[in-house]
Amino acid sequence: MSLANTNETSEWPESWRTLSHAIRTGRYTDPQFTKLEYEKLWYQTWQFAARLDEIPNKGDYTTYDIGKQSAMLVRVGEDTVKAYYNACPHRGTTLSEGCGHFEKDQIMCPFHGWKWDLEGQNKFIMEQQEFKDGNLLASDVKLREVHCEVFAGFVFISFAKEPQSFEEYIAPVAKYIEGLGLSDMHHYWWRRMEGPANWKVAQEAFFETYHVPATHPQLDPVGAKVVYEDVHTPGAPLQHEHVIYEGLEGGHGRFYAGEKPMSSTDANAGEERLEFMIEHMQHLVHEMDAMVLQGDVDVATSLRGKPLPEGSSYGAEFIKAIYAKAAAEERPMPAPTPENAAMWGGEVFVFPNLLILPNLGNVMIYRIRPNGDSPDSCIFEIFSTTTYPKLAEIPRAEVQHVTDYNDPEQLLLIPRQDFANVPRIQRGLHSNGYRQIYLAKHHEVMILNMHQELDRYLGAPEAIAK
Ligand code: FES
Ligand SMILES: [Fe+2]
Repeated sequence: MSLANTNETSEWPESWRTLSHAIRTGRYTDPQFTKLEYEKLWYQTWQFAARLDEIPNKGDYTTYDIGKQSAMLVRVGEDTVKAYYNACPHRGTTLSEGCGHFEKDQIMCPFHGWKWDLEGQNKFIMEQQEFKDGNLLASDVKLREVHCEVFAGFVFISFAKEPQSFEEYIAPVAKYIEGLGLSDMHHYWWRRMEGPANWKVAQEAFFETYHVPATHPQLDPVGAKVVYEDVHTPGAPLQHEHVIYEGLEGGHGRFYAGEKPMSSTDANAGEERLEFMIEHMQHLVHEMDAMVLQGDVDVATSLRGKPLPEGSSYGAEFIKAIYAKAAAEERPMPAPTPENAAMWGGEVFVFPNLLILPNLGNVMIYRIRPNGDSPDSCIFEIFSTTTYPKLAEIPRAEVQHVTDYNDPEQLLLIPRQDFANVPRIQRGLHSNGYRQIYLAKHHEVMILNMHQELDRYLGAPEAIAK
């Protein structure tokens, strides 16, 4: 008998519970839970629907699908974006699929050619007198708007009739995002794939750095020795030990470097430290091509053979050199304040579907959402973004579809390593001999915090009692 389904008759099944130290598996595997998530979470909450880079010019559109709902996002003017229910008022045809441009600033339905302007006002109905006994007004068939807000280069939408105010929604996390220069970050590459796992399984694979020694041994040689060789060198700290995790109000969260910043190097260390830094950065370029790009490695390499100023470090010199080059190219960069620098190599999670992984001048973004009715499928996206020199042409964002996430041609090593675990987790969660995941109090606090907010949306009895 399945341990996960012993109490299915109660109103809120045991297998759906969030405990302070554990999460029951039904939340990841039960189709009824997925259904409830659509109704009470996805069709209500604010969520990340697009980057402005998808619709840089007036008349551009993009499409965001979540479950059975679809929103068409349109660049109406330089500073205006609108979102519409993606259904033609005549017979329901979707007005947009993917990204594109509305010629002559006219939205036209492909089925019978009805037309709207970018503001959603109907402008043309062939043989209008045929409809509603000749009484159909253009205003009867204007496009219905979906709530839409632009923040830090992201377009957020909500399908709720009366959503929470966007300011209130974003407030707990806004201060950790605003300094990161995300409005200046533009498309470098963007990939989308379907994952054979619950959306929360895929998302939670990126909520902690506790997995780095086992999953990405090349990124943490000290931790890898502990895991793979049972060797713990006294005095050699594990990289992830100092990471600070915070569950924020509203289900949001963040983690960032503690005493040993992940993106800096020891002061006054010798040239071998510079070589280590170059090697580590080169790994990130070859294995991820996000957060650190080849131009950054080239800057680090240019420090070879240069004397280190008294009291400085290669980490500090590298940052100086990056900013000097950016200034010469008039390339916008987020200010190197201690608050921003602390976030480099860390993560900000915006409930329920956006993960921001900042570094100086480059940011990686993940978006994860459910896919169809199955609890065992999700849509996973990676956006690699960067800032561009003033004279560079900024490309319009275009998605590439990953058809096989094990294929090194389509996905680089680090995301492949992460994704190797994801279907295995999902299979294990379905096991009849398994009832709940156990959470590390510190390292996995963002997971717990997210589930507690999810419970508030879903109306879980424990959440209501709080
Ligand atoms: S369905 Fe769109 S014009 Fe007929
Ligand atoms: Fe990872």
